[in-house]
Amino acid sequence: MALMVWNDKFSVGVKELDDHHKTLVALVNELHDAMKVGKTKEIMDDILARLTDYTRFHFSAEEKYMTKYSYPQYTQHKLEHDKFTEKVLQFQKDLKDGKFAISMEIMTFLKDWLINHISGSDKKYGPFFNEHGLK
Ligand code: FEO
Repeated sequence: MALMVWNDKFSVGVKELDDHHKTLVALVNELHDAMKVGKTKEIMDDILARLTDYTRFHFSAEEKYMTKYSYPQYTQHKLEHDKFTEKVLQFQKDLKDGKFAISMEIMTFLKDWLINHISGSDKKYGPFFNEHGLK
């Protein structure tokens, strides 16, 4: 069973960003599935690298729109992105160096962070972006 299931209640009302979030959910599930069946370190490295890259791509897309439309909560939102990126980059480095293995604790952290961030901070920008014609 998938660790995370997309639900329309997570929608931020902007299709492009919902599609990004769905991809992030799929990558977290891919990492979880690989962990469960004990895939090799190389495979785990590859999935985590793709998750990290996609997270950065997605954050920068949101930040680009926030900057473009002068979103009032940009600074706080970017700070959340930066802290998460730093954490995931550290996981990636430690996994590569063999100091760390993907565990259920890490998976729960990733899942909870995404759900809380999307349902909380991301959903707040929805009406603001909609007002600027982004749907
Ligand atoms: Fe969808 Fe703010 O990350």
